[in-house]
Amino acid sequence: MSEDQHHEALTRTVTEKLRNGRVVTIRPMRREDIELEREFISNLSQESRHQRFLGGVGKPSEQLMRQLMDVDHDKREAFIALFDEDGTEKEVGVSRYALDADGKGAECAVVVADDWQVQGLGTLLLKRVVESAKSRGIELLYSTESASNNKLREVAEHMGWDCRTDPRDATQVIYSLKVFPRSR
Ligand SMILES: CC(C)(COP(=O)(O)OP(=O)(O)OC[C@H]1O[C@@H](n2cnc3c(N)ncnc32)[C@H](O)[C@@H]1OP(=O)(O)O)[C@@H](O)C(=O)NCCC(=O)NCCS
Repeated sequence: MSEDQHHEALTRTVTEKLRNGRVVTIRPMRREDIELEREFISNLSQESRHQRFLGGVGKPSEQLMRQLMDVDHDKREAFIALFDEDGTEKEVGVSRYALDADGKGAECAVVVADDWQVQGLGTLLLKRVVESAKSRGIELLYSTESASNNKLREVAEHMGWDCRTDPRDATQVIYSLKVFPRSR
Protein backbone atom coordinates (compact mmCIF):
# COMPACT_ATOMS: atom_id res chain seq x y z
CA MET A 1 0.00 0.00 0.00
CA SER A 2 1.43 3.39 -0.98
CA GLU A 3 1.37 6.40 1.36
CA ASP A 4 -1.47 7.85 -0.72
CA GLN A 5 -3.50 4.68 -0.38
CA HIS A 6 -2.74 4.67 3.35
CA HIS A 7 -4.01 8.24 3.71
CA GLU A 8 -7.06 7.39 1.60
CA ALA A 9 -7.90 4.39 3.81
CA LEU A 10 -7.86 6.62 6.88
CA THR A 11 -9.72 9.66 5.61
CA ARG A 12 -12.00 8.80 2.70
CA THR A 13 -15.74 9.32 2.57
CA VAL A 14 -17.65 6.39 1.07
CA THR A 15 -21.23 5.98 -0.04
CA GLU A 16 -22.90 2.65 0.66
CA LYS A 17 -26.29 1.24 -0.28
CA LEU A 18 -27.92 -0.75 2.53
CA ARG A 19 -30.30 -3.69 2.25
CA ASN A 20 -33.30 -1.37 2.63
CA GLY A 21 -32.09 0.53 -0.46
CA ARG A 22 -31.15 3.62 1.52
CA VAL A 23 -27.81 5.23 0.82
CA VAL A 24 -25.53 6.30 3.65
CA THR A 25 -22.22 8.11 3.76
CA ILE A 26 -19.46 6.79 6.02
CA ARG A 27 -16.54 9.05 6.96
CA PRO A 28 -14.22 9.85 9.89
CA MET A 29 -15.96 11.71 12.71
CA ARG A 30 -15.25 15.45 12.97
CA ARG A 31 -15.32 17.79 15.96
CA GLU A 32 -18.37 19.57 14.55
CA ASP A 33 -20.38 16.32 14.54
CA ILE A 34 -21.08 16.70 18.27
CA GLU A 35 -24.78 17.58 17.93
CA LEU A 36 -25.37 14.75 15.43
CA GLU A 37 -23.71 12.34 17.86
CA ARG A 38 -25.67 13.70 20.84
CA GLU A 39 -28.97 13.24 19.02
CA PHE A 40 -27.99 9.78 17.81
CA ILE A 41 -27.10 8.58 21.31
CA SER A 42 -30.19 10.23 22.84
CA ASN A 43 -32.48 8.38 20.43
CA LEU A 44 -31.05 4.88 20.97
CA SER A 45 -33.42 2.38 22.55
CA GLN A 46 -32.80 1.31 26.12
CA GLU A 47 -31.50 -2.05 24.88
CA SER A 48 -29.02 -0.60 22.37
CA ARG A 49 -27.87 2.00 24.86
CA HIS A 50 -27.39 -0.67 27.49
CA GLN A 51 -25.45 -2.96 25.15
CA ARG A 52 -23.17 -0.12 24.09
CA PHE A 53 -22.75 1.89 27.30
CA LEU A 54 -24.34 -0.16 30.09
CA GLY A 55 -26.41 2.97 30.70
CA GLY A 56 -30.13 3.78 30.59
CA VAL A 57 -32.00 6.04 28.21
CA GLY A 58 -32.08 9.82 28.09
CA LYS A 59 -29.60 12.47 27.13
CA PRO A 60 -25.91 11.52 27.33
CA SER A 61 -23.92 13.39 29.98
CA GLU A 62 -21.42 16.06 28.97
CA GLN A 63 -18.66 13.80 30.25
CA LEU A 64 -19.78 10.99 27.93
CA MET A 65 -20.04 13.44 25.02
CA ARG A 66 -16.49 14.64 25.67
CA GLN A 67 -15.29 11.02 25.63
CA LEU A 68 -17.17 10.24 22.41
CA MET A 69 -15.86 13.33 20.63
CA ASP A 70 -12.29 12.78 21.80
CA VAL A 71 -11.13 11.56 18.40
CA ASP A 72 -7.60 12.55 17.35
CA HIS A 73 -7.43 10.37 14.18
CA ASP A 74 -4.26 8.87 15.57
CA LYS A 75 -4.76 6.99 18.83
CA ARG A 76 -8.52 7.36 18.83
CA GLU A 77 -10.57 7.02 15.65
CA ALA A 78 -14.28 7.01 14.88
CA PHE A 79 -16.36 6.60 11.73
CA ILE A 80 -19.90 7.84 11.40
CA ALA A 81 -22.66 6.82 9.03
CA LEU A 82 -24.90 9.65 7.84
CA PHE A 83 -28.23 9.66 6.05
CA ASP A 84 -29.55 12.67 4.19
CA GLU A 85 -33.13 13.07 5.39
CA ASP A 86 -34.75 15.72 3.20
CA GLY A 87 -31.58 17.81 3.15
CA THR A 88 -30.77 17.32 6.83
CA GLU A 89 -27.92 15.02 7.85
CA LYS A 90 -28.81 12.41 10.43
CA GLU A 91 -26.36 10.07 12.13
CA VAL A 92 -27.46 6.43 11.88
CA GLY A 93 -24.38 4.57 13.15
CA VAL A 94 -20.88 4.92 14.50
CA SER A 95 -17.85 2.69 15.02
CA ARG A 96 -14.65 3.54 16.85
CA TYR A 97 -11.42 2.25 18.29
CA ALA A 98 -8.84 3.43 20.81
CA LEU A 99 -5.24 2.25 20.82
CA ASP A 100 -3.71 0.52 23.83
CA ALA A 101 -0.63 2.08 25.41
CA ASP A 102 1.67 -0.33 23.53
CA GLY A 103 0.14 0.72 20.19
CA LYS A 104 -0.39 -2.92 19.15
CA GLY A 105 -3.97 -3.54 20.22
CA ALA A 106 -7.10 -1.40 20.07
CA GLU A 107 -10.45 -1.67 21.80
CA CYS A 108 -13.36 -1.10 19.44
CA ALA A 109 -17.11 -0.48 19.57
CA VAL A 110 -20.01 -0.10 17.17
CA VAL A 111 -23.62 0.97 17.43
CA VAL A 112 -26.35 1.34 14.81
CA ALA A 113 -29.63 3.27 15.24
CA ASP A 114 -32.40 0.81 16.13
CA ASP A 115 -34.44 1.45 12.97
CA TRP A 116 -31.33 0.92 10.86
CA GLN A 117 -30.20 -2.42 12.27
CA VAL A 118 -29.98 -5.69 10.26
CA GLN A 119 -29.41 -3.73 7.03
CA GLY A 120 -25.67 -4.46 6.88
CA LEU A 121 -24.58 -1.15 8.41
CA GLY A 122 -22.95 -2.61 11.55
CA THR A 123 -20.82 -4.84 9.33
CA LEU A 124 -19.82 -1.92 7.08
CA LEU A 125 -18.85 0.22 10.08
CA LEU A 126 -16.77 -2.59 11.57
CA LYS A 127 -15.10 -3.24 8.22
CA ARG A 128 -14.04 0.41 8.17
CA VAL A 129 -12.52 -0.03 11.63
CA VAL A 130 -10.59 -3.10 10.45
CA GLU A 131 -9.37 -1.33 7.30
CA SER A 132 -8.24 1.69 9.31
CA ALA A 133 -6.55 -0.45 11.97
CA LYS A 134 -4.73 -2.36 9.25
CA SER A 135 -3.52 0.85 7.71
CA ARG A 136 -2.21 2.05 11.09
CA GLY A 137 -0.33 -1.20 11.76
CA ILE A 138 -2.57 -2.23 14.67
CA GLU A 139 -2.21 -5.97 15.29
CA LEU A 140 -5.30 -6.83 17.32
CA LEU A 141 -8.81 -5.43 17.63
CA TYR A 142 -10.89 -6.51 20.60
CA SER A 143 -14.00 -5.80 22.61
CA THR A 144 -15.48 -7.33 25.76
CA GLU A 145 -19.26 -7.48 25.66
CA SER A 146 -22.21 -9.06 27.41
CA ALA A 147 -22.68 -12.74 26.48
CA SER A 148 -26.38 -11.92 25.99
CA ASN A 149 -25.59 -9.64 23.03
CA ASN A 150 -26.71 -12.04 20.30
CA LYS A 151 -26.83 -9.35 17.62
CA LEU A 152 -23.16 -8.55 18.04
CA ARG A 153 -22.26 -12.24 18.16
CA GLU A 154 -24.00 -12.79 14.79
CA VAL A 155 -22.15 -9.90 13.21
CA ALA A 156 -18.78 -10.83 14.73
CA GLU A 157 -19.07 -14.50 13.72
CA HIS A 158 -20.06 -13.54 10.18
CA MET A 159 -16.97 -11.35 9.98
CA GLY A 160 -14.66 -14.08 11.28
CA TRP A 161 -13.91 -12.55 14.68
CA ASP A 162 -12.85 -14.90 17.45
CA CYS A 163 -15.55 -15.06 20.18
CA ARG A 164 -14.48 -16.48 23.57
CA THR A 165 -16.10 -16.52 26.97
CA ASP A 166 -14.19 -14.20 29.31
CA PRO A 167 -12.25 -16.57 31.65
CA ARG A 168 -12.77 -14.06 34.51
CA ASP A 169 -16.49 -13.56 33.95
CA ALA A 170 -18.73 -16.08 32.18
CA THR A 171 -21.38 -13.41 31.54
CA GLN A 172 -18.98 -11.70 29.13
CA VAL A 173 -17.56 -12.57 25.73
CA ILE A 174 -14.22 -11.33 24.41
CA TYR A 175 -14.30 -10.63 20.69
CA SER A 176 -10.97 -10.33 18.92
CA LEU A 177 -9.61 -10.11 15.41
CA LYS A 178 -5.98 -10.41 14.40
CA VAL A 179 -5.26 -7.67 11.90
CA PHE A 180 -2.48 -8.15 9.44
CA PRO A 181 -0.72 -4.84 8.97
CA ARG A 182 -0.30 -3.35 5.52
CA SER A 183 2.97 -4.19 3.83
CA ARG A 184 5.29 -1.22 3.44
C1 LIG B 1 -24.50 -5.10 17.02
C2 LIG B 1 -24.97 -4.12 15.97
C3 LIG B 1 -23.94 -3.00 15.82
C4 LIG B 1 -25.16 -4.85 14.63
O1 LIG B 1 -25.45 -3.90 13.63
P1 LIG B 1 -26.38 -4.27 12.37
O2 LIG B 1 -26.31 -3.09 11.48
O3 LIG B 1 -27.71 -4.70 12.81
O4 LIG B 1 -25.59 -5.51 11.78
P2 LIG B 1 -25.69 -6.07 10.28
O5 LIG B 1 -26.96 -5.62 9.65
O6 LIG B 1 -24.42 -5.71 9.62
O7 LIG B 1 -25.81 -7.61 10.55
C5 LIG B 1 -24.80 -8.50 10.25
C6 LIG B 1 -25.28 -9.92 10.40
O8 LIG B 1 -25.78 -10.18 11.70
C7 LIG B 1 -27.11 -10.71 11.58
N1 LIG B 1 -27.92 -10.02 12.56
C8 LIG B 1 -27.87 -8.72 12.91
N2 LIG B 1 -28.82 -8.46 13.83
C9 LIG B 1 -29.46 -9.62 14.06
C10 LIG B 1 -30.56 -9.99 14.88
N3 LIG B 1 -31.20 -9.10 15.64
N4 LIG B 1 -30.94 -11.28 14.87
C11 LIG B 1 -30.33 -12.18 14.08
N5 LIG B 1 -29.32 -11.87 13.27
C12 LIG B 1 -28.89 -10.61 13.26
C13 LIG B 1 -27.62 -10.38 10.24
O9 LIG B 1 -28.38 -11.45 9.76
C14 LIG B 1 -26.37 -10.22 9.43
O10 LIG B 1 -26.01 -11.40 8.81
P3 LIG B 1 -25.94 -11.45 7.21
O11 LIG B 1 -25.15 -10.24 6.80
O12 LIG B 1 -25.24 -12.72 6.89
O13 LIG B 1 -27.36 -11.44 6.78
C15 LIG B 1 -26.36 -3.51 16.34
O14 LIG B 1 -27.25 -4.55 16.63
C16 LIG B 1 -26.30 -2.54 17.51
O15 LIG B 1 -26.05 -1.35 17.34
N6 LIG B 1 -26.58 -3.04 18.73
C17 LIG B 1 -26.56 -2.19 19.93
C18 LIG B 1 -25.17 -1.75 20.32
C19 LIG B 1 -24.23 -2.91 20.50
O16 LIG B 1 -24.60 -3.95 20.98
N7 LIG B 1 -22.97 -2.68 20.11
C20 LIG B 1 -21.94 -3.69 20.28
C21 LIG B 1 -21.16 -3.46 21.51
S1 LIG B 1 -20.09 -2.09 21.40
